[in-house]
Amino acid sequence: LPAVASLFAVGCAVDAPTYWADVQPIVDAHCGACHEGGGIAPFSLTSYEEVSAVGTLVAAAVEARTMPPWGADGGLARTDDLALTDAQIDTITAWVDGGMAEGDPADGQPTEPIESGEQLEIQQVLSMPEPWEVPAGDSTRCFPMDWPYDTDMWVTGQVGMPDNSAAVYHIVLFAIAPDSAEAVRAFDDASAEPGYPCYGGVELAGVESTGDYIRTRFVGDWAPGLQGTAFPAGTGIRMPVGTLPVLQVHYNHPSGGVLDQTAVGVRVADTVTTEGYYVPWFDTQWLFVEGSMRLPAGQESIQHQFQAAPGSSPLFLDVSNGQTLTGGMKLWRAFPHMHLLGQNLELASVSASGDEELLLGVPRYDFRWQREYGFAEPYLLGADDELRVECTWSNTEEFRRRRGVSPVQAIDVDFGESTYDEMCLAIVYVTAAE
Ligand code: HEC
Repeated sequence: LPAVASLFAVGCAVDAPTYWADVQPIVDAHCGACHEGGGIAPFSLTSYEEVSAVGTLVAAAVEARTMPPWGADGGLARTDDLALTDAQIDTITAWVDGGMAEGDPADGQPTEPIESGEQLEIQQVLSMPEPWEVPAGDSTRCFPMDWPYDTDMWVTGQVGMPDNSAAVYHIVLFAIAPDSAEAVRAFDDASAEPGYPCYGGVELAGVESTGDYIRTRFVGDWAPGLQGTAFPAGTGIRMPVGTLPVLQVHYNHPSGGVLDQTAVGVRVADTVTTEGYYVPWFDTQWLFVEGSMRLPAGQESIQHQFQAAPGSSPLFLDVSNGQTLTGGMKLWRAFPHMHLLGQNLELASVSASGDEELLLGVPRYDFRWQREYGFAEPYLLGADDELRVECTWSNTEEFRRRRGVSPVQAIDVDFGESTYDEMCLAIVYVTAAE
């Protein structure tokens, strides 16, 4: 910013930025997917009048990098980053500081919002069976759906189809293995209302876990601003006969009382050349050893990490039906996941000789703005390379208040799926390295 400010101060031949020539293209591309009528954002930013009316707020939000909400920074090149560059932020703040000139509408160009992902040809729409009345505030609910195929199929792409765009923050499509389907149907049957409450995964929230292991696979996710995910050509996720698809919807609505019947569109194939797997990457010790991923009450900047070779890990074997990828793998996408206390997540590869490479950094992690990131090129993880996930949290009272965590009083937090627990994982989409 100082460079730009001084440029104007000395009155160079550079014109002050105008809305039409400088600001409109940025706002249309980076804000338009959410700040339009009926979108997730509370007001629209689609005209000079609308943007200039909240110009000071806009400058503050882009400078603080709270808008557009985009947690990732650093790591491998990603597809269609929504984040603004420093130069774009400078342009917006210089425009606001310079009095928000409108300029000439003839300078404006229609710009499509940046939407990550490919336009998919959908073959099947999986919908919540009934509308659900969204409660006020933040909530997460799981909806088992019908799976219409009676042979094994592969999902080769998916896209979220939010019904009530003002309330849907994030959706995840899970596939419950046939031998676990009954347990999940029982969660649904336990109440007469559509779906059942869940939080981090597909377990029924608010009750003691039955301890039954529910075999679940991640099939994809969607958030506002994402168009959909087409898995790399020739690859897809196996959905065996008897699979139970479950849609997890993360809602946030100020007043509640609105209806939603969200769906997910999938592209399917009856065979693929290379099977793809979403592997949740975390330390299974955290799951089984009480207190092994503890976030002590009141402590700031707490870190836990896990590093191992993924190909032969139990996590990988669990999703791969006994196949191993011990010959190395290609890593295409990553979905970072923590709960409300999460601040920063890093996914890195570590070679046998100790060389490290950051694959994905998410220094502005925010539970409300979870999303999957796609890499521009697949990353080749060699047979001896290890994968590391490292998470940073704060568990102070101040931070709990800021993130709206209940209770506000700091208490020890452990690994788990519920609102009171924390998580640290990166779900990575991988295929065998030919
Ligand atoms: C992915 C959806 C999304 C995108 C993209 C997005 N916003 Fe927002 N924005 C929201 C939502 C939702 C809110 C309401 C507050 C909240 O939920 O955090 C919001 C709130 C705001 C606010 C109110 C103050 C604040 O910080 O909360 C401003 C100003 C704003 N956005 C500006 C922008 C600008 C400028 C861009 C583009 C450079 C942008 N937003 C892109 C969803 C988005």
